[in-house]
Amino acid sequence: MSNEIETTSWNAVCSVDDIVPNTGICALVKDRHVAVFHVNDGGERLFAIDNYDPNAQASVLSRGLVGNLGERIVVASPIYKHHFDLQSGECLEAPEKSVNAYPVRIENRTVWVGV
Ligand code: FES
Repeated sequence: MSNEIETTSWNAVCSVDDIVPNTGICALVKDRHVAVFHVNDGGERLFAIDNYDPNAQASVLSRGLVGNLGERIVVASPIYKHHFDLQSGECLEAPEKSVNAYPVRIENRTVWVGV
């Protein structure tokens, strides 16, 4: 019997300073297309979700507009303008088309994504 357990590991992606505040970049992390966002609204926060927008069927989320809807920090997909919660990956307009969210940490200005 083989039990394949997928383990999460931390992957260095780039420097925080490589991401213009309040925008995202895309990175290939363990074969996944991940969109990494640098949100600076006084405090510096990083988020990572899938880059692939299931509504548009295209890898575009890193190029979306970052903003907030109430308390939630979201990215608006550049194609159909669906909003994705950067913390959870939830698509606000079509929850069944939500994406994965990944843990992020910063160490000595390096951004690490857990995939
Ligand atoms: S890593 Fe950029 S689109 Fe896949």
